[in-house]
Amino acid sequence: MNKISSRMLATKPSANSAVSGRARVLKAEGRDIISLAIGEPDFDTPAHIIEAANKAMAEGKTRYTNVDGTAELKAAIQRKFKVENGLDFASDQIVVSTGAKQVIFNVLLATVDPGDEVIIPAPYWVSYPEMTRIADGTPVIVNGAAENGFKVTAQALEAAITDKSRWLILNSPCNPSGAVYTADELSGLADVLLKYPQVGILSDDIYEHIIFGGQKFTSIIAVEPKLAERTVAVNGVSKAYCMTGWRLGYGGGPADIMREVRKLQSQSTSCASSISQAGALAALEGPQDCLVTNREAFCRRRDLLMPLLAEAGLSCRKPDGAFYVLAGCSDFLGTKSPAGVAVETDVDLAKVILEEAGVATVPGTAFGAPGFLRLSYAVDDEMLKQAVARIAGLCRSLTR
Ligand SMILES: Cc1ncc(COP(=O)(O)O)c(C=O)c1O
Repeated sequence: MNKISSRMLATKPSANSAVSGRARVLKAEGRDIISLAIGEPDFDTPAHIIEAANKAMAEGKTRYTNVDGTAELKAAIQRKFKVENGLDFASDQIVVSTGAKQVIFNVLLATVDPGDEVIIPAPYWVSYPEMTRIADGTPVIVNGAAENGFKVTAQALEAAITDKSRWLILNSPCNPSGAVYTADELSGLADVLLKYPQVGILSDDIYEHIIFGGQKFTSIIAVEPKLAERTVAVNGVSKAYCMTGWRLGYGGGPADIMREVRKLQSQSTSCASSISQAGALAALEGPQDCLVTNREAFCRRRDLLMPLLAEAGLSCRKPDGAFYVLAGCSDFLGTKSPAGVAVETDVDLAKVILEEAGVATVPGTAFGAPGFLRLSYAVDDEMLKQAVARIAGLCRSLTR
C-alpha cells in the first residue's frame, strides 16, 4: 500500500463527480440515464470565442504567459470589473487562474493558518469546506434557512464570527440554492463585517450573469467600498460564456493577497492555458448576446420546472439565479423503494432515483442541505420534462 497524506485521507471527493461517475457506469451498461446533476451550461461556447482561440494557436500563442495572465486579458478583466461591477482594480490586484476554483483554492491556501476559521453559509458549494480543510482551516457552517430564501442573515453571520474568523465565503447567485442576495441584504452583512476587520470576504461571483426577473447582481464591494481592502472578487468565463472545459477564472483583490496567490501559482500551475486566455479575452471583449439568450433559456426552464416539481410533491423555493433548484424531499423519507431499498435520507433517495428511475441528482447533504435534492436545469426542455416525470413516478411508488 502506498502512503497517502493525512490531508488527503481527510478530503472527500466532490459529490458531483461521485454521482456523475455512477451515472456514467449505468449508461455504459446500456441504461437510459438523464442527468440533472450537471454543473455546466449545456450550450456551446460561442463561435467567435473558438475562432479567437484557433487564431491564437495559429499565431503561435502557445507558450507560457505571465503567471497571472497576459497583459491583454488582465486589461480586459480590469475593464469588466469597472464597467459591470463598478470596481477599480490595479493590474497587480488581478490574477488569472485555471478556473474560479483555482482562485478560491489559492486564496485559501495563501491566507489560512491552522485553526483559522472560514465562515461558509449553507447551502454551500461542495468545494468550500473541503478546500478550507486542505488549507488546514476550520469550516464554520452558518445555516441559511429555507424560510429566508437559503440566505444567511446579518445576525447569524455575527453570531458565527470569532477572533479566529479569517474569511466569509459569499456566493450569489448560489450553487446549489439559486439564491441571490439583494443590495439591502448585502448592506446588512457589510454592516456586521465592518465591525470585524479580521474577516476577509471571498465573493464567488461565478453565476453573476445568470439572474432572473430583472434582479441585478451586486458586489458587496460596490455596496460597501470600505470592504474593498479585504475582499477578493472571484469570477470566470465558465458559466457565463459556456467555457467550463477551458478552465479559466480570475480574481481581483487586495494587492498583498494577490501577490501571494501569484507566488503560489508560480510554484504550482504557472499560468492558465495561453489558448484559453485568448478565448477569455474574446469572451470579455466580444459580443455579449449569449449572456442574454442563455439567461432567458435558463429562466424559461426554471418556469417550466417549478410547477412540474410541485405536482410531484417536491417543495421548492423559486430560485432567482444560477441553474439549480433545491427540491425539498422530506415527505418521501422513511419509505421503501419498489426494489425494496430503504429511503431514510436524501442520499438514499438520490441513489434510488438514479438506480431505479434513471435520473441523476445530487443529494442536498453534499451541500449542507439535508432533506433536499439539487436538480440542475442545464438540460433541454424535453429531457427536463422526462426527468421530472420519472422522479414523480418513482416518488409515487415509494411505500411506507
Ligand atoms: C459556486 C461555484 N464556484 C466556482 C465554481 C468553479 O468554476 P470554474 O469552472 O471557473 O472553476 C463552480 C462550478 O461548479 C461553482 O458552482
